[in-house]
Amino acid sequence: MKSNTDLTDRNRTPGDKLLFTPGPLTTSHSVKTAMLRDLGSRDHEFMRLVRNIRDRLLKVAGVSQSSGWEAILMQGSGTFGVESMISSVIPPTGKLLILINGAYGERIADMAKRHRIPAVLLRQPENQTHSLQKVEETLAANPDISHVAMVHSETTSGIFNPVEDLGRLAKRMGKVVLVDGMSSFGAVPLDLEAAGVDFLASSANKCIEGVPGFAIILARRQALLATDGFARTLSLDLLSQWKGLEGNGQFRFTPPTHSILAFSQALDELDAEGGPEGRQRRYQQNHRALVEGMRRLGFEPYVPAQCQGWIITTFEFPKDPKFTLETFHQKLSDKGHVIYPGKLTQVDCFRIGNVGRLFTRDMDNLVAAIREVLSEMGISTK
Ligand SMILES: Cc1ncc(COP(=O)(O)O)c(C=O)c1O
Repeated sequence: MKSNTDLTDRNRTPGDKLLFTPGPLTTSHSVKTAMLRDLGSRDHEFMRLVRNIRDRLLKVAGVSQSSGWEAILMQGSGTFGVESMISSVIPPTGKLLILINGAYGERIADMAKRHRIPAVLLRQPENQTHSLQKVEETLAANPDISHVAMVHSETTSGIFNPVEDLGRLAKRMGKVVLVDGMSSFGAVPLDLEAAGVDFLASSANKCIEGVPGFAIILARRQALLATDGFARTLSLDLLSQWKGLEGNGQFRFTPPTHSILAFSQALDELDAEGGPEGRQRRYQQNHRALVEGMRRLGFEPYVPAQCQGWIITTFEFPKDPKFTLETFHQKLSDKGHVIYPGKLTQVDCFRIGNVGRLFTRDMDNLVAAIREVLSEMGISTK
C-alpha cells in the first residue's frame, strides 16, 4: 500500500508546539499515525520491514550490502548507538584518538573512560573545526593509536567538522574511522568511501525525521567482522546485534516496533522529498531564513559562517542584563515555539534547530515571536 506522503505543513499534528530543537523534533502527522498498530517482533511482516529499512538506510548513505556495507539498528537513543560503536569495535590492545570541539566529542571521551579504552583527546575551541595538521601530528606522535573518532555535525554549536578530509587523513595513516553522524546523516552529504569511514552512528529521530526509539549504525562489513570478541557490553554488542538481524532477521531483545513502523513512513517521506538532497535543500532554506531574520533582530550566529552547518544555530544571549533564558524560553513556548538552551562551556547562548517537519514560514514566524518576546521583556539587542 502506498503511504500518504504529504510534505506540506498540513501534515502536522494540530495543536502541537513546534520544536526548534535537534530532537525530539517535530515529526509529520503521518509518521506518528504509522505507529498505530501492534506488530509481533517475530512476525514475518515485521522482519521484512526491518530488512527493508536496513537496505534503505544503506541507500540513503550511498552504499549497499553488495558494496560491503551493513546497517544495524540498535534500541535506544543516539547515545546508545555511539556507545555501541565505541564499546564494540576497539580491541583490548587498541587506542582511540577523539577529536573534540563540543559536548558530543566530550561524551565519546566519557564513554572511552568508562569502558577503560585508552584514549588521546584532541580538543579545539567550540567555534573552530579540527586542524588536519594537528591531527596528523597527533597521529604521528602516537603510533599506537588504532582508531579515530569524530563528530560530523557537532550539535553543541552547529559547526560542521570536515569529516571527509579528517577521515581520509586517518585512513591514509592506517586508522579505523568512527563517526558520530547523529545530526548530519540523511541531510548532509558524506561520501563514506572517500572519507574512509568504517563506522557511522546516527538516530531515527534526527534528519530522517522518525520518532525516537532506536539508533542506526552503518558499518563496513570487513571492519565489523574484525571486531569479534571486542564488545564490552551485552546489550550494545554491535557485532552480535548484526548477527541477530542477519541470521534470523530479529533483534536480540525487545525491538521498538512502533518507532520502526514510524521510521518506514519517515523513509517514504524522505524519498518523496527528493532523498537527502531534497531534505538538505529544505534545511538550508530554513537555516538561511533563520539567520537572516535573527540578524535583523541584532543576533549573529556564534559559529563563523565558513564552518556553520545548516542543522542548528547557536546565538549568544543579548547583553542586556534583563535577559534570562528561562523567561525567554517560557514566553516563546507559550507562543507555541520551543527552542533549545545552549550547551557551550564558554558563552551563554541558546540554540535554534531547523530540522524536523519545519518550513521557512515557521522560521519567519519564530523570528516574529522572538521579536515580540524581546519587546515584552524590554530587551534591546542593538
Ligand atoms: C552529535 C550528537 N551526538 C550524540 C547525540 C546523542 O543523541 P541522544 O540524545 O539521542 O542520545 C546527539 C543528540 O542530539 C548529537 O547531536
